[in-house]
Amino acid sequence: MKHLLDTISLSREEAISILDIAEEMTQVSEREVKKLPVLRGRTVVNLFFEDSTRTRLSFEAAAKRLSADVLNFSAKGSSVSKGESLQDTIQTISAMGADALVVRHPGSGTPHRLAHTGWIDVPVVNAGDGTHEHPTQALLDAFTLRRALGGFSASGAVKEGPRGRGLDGAKVAIVGDVLHSRVARSNVHLLARLGAEVHLVAPPTLLPWGVENWPVTLHYDLDEALHSEDFAAVMMLRVQNERMHESFFPNEREYARLWGLSAARLAGLPKETFIMHPGPMNRGFEISAAAADSPRALILDQVENGVSVRMAVLYRLLTGQEGTNE
Ligand code: NCD
Repeated sequence: MKHLLDTISLSREEAISILDIAEEMTQVSEREVKKLPVLRGRTVVNLFFEDSTRTRLSFEAAAKRLSADVLNFSAKGSSVSKGESLQDTIQTISAMGADALVVRHPGSGTPHRLAHTGWIDVPVVNAGDGTHEHPTQALLDAFTLRRALGGFSASGAVKEGPRGRGLDGAKVAIVGDVLHSRVARSNVHLLARLGAEVHLVAPPTLLPWGVENWPVTLHYDLDEALHSEDFAAVMMLRVQNERMHESFFPNEREYARLWGLSAARLAGLPKETFIMHPGPMNRGFEISAAAADSPRALILDQVENGVSVRMAVLYRLLTGQEGTNE
């Protein structure tokens, strides 16, 4: 694996290998000294052309725990505001000696361009490109679910979870603004490849063209979906207002009433159903405080696991190895 650009082209074996390395990385994060010397002397550049809190901090923490040097670039306040092109920005960074690029960009496909134009010849990690993909988010979601449900690994070892079977056959509902969500797209491909049964629950206006060809079951009514299926997890998506240039639903109250994970809907879910959200959350809109703060919410586990998963990705791409031997 040279780059991590999407999950649609990530094989099941490669995905499981990343999750298994992340499992080893979690042990590092639990130590008093949370560091491995494996990327000493290497430089990871975080290039953020779009706002981010958790993803940027998480990549920075991951690179630092592997002892890499980290350069953070954000387009706001840089020469991009003076009109510098993507090519010049990348070549400037390349000249400073980057060993890996982590890229978030509003343009779908930008990480693919960086990986293939020849402006720079280092591994590229997609940290979210427009409405396209966000592969490390999907990997951390799969990792979190695998741990919560009882996992499996390439070696076939199965740890028992509340439902005793890991991701295999687990029903996962992804609810809300699928149309604008790179998180949903990456999760659909990865979870399906890992054996989960993915359900999308959304108003027809917030589903993308071609969704009928995705490996998913579609629902257009949240209450009907929650009553008819026994979901292992319900993943709520943020409504991506910043990507909406027309009206996709009547108003916020109406959206919350029909599509929000309210306290009442939470109370109606089976006790073992986990709640997920990639963050940032709009409390009271797509998710109620009752759901976000419930003991069944894995939302902070997702953030915590994000560091281990990104350590695994950087380790895999920069060393080419499958295990840490630590
Ligand atoms: C997501 C993103 O930026 O795509 N957030 C994240 O990376 N944790 C989801 C979102 O912004 O809604």
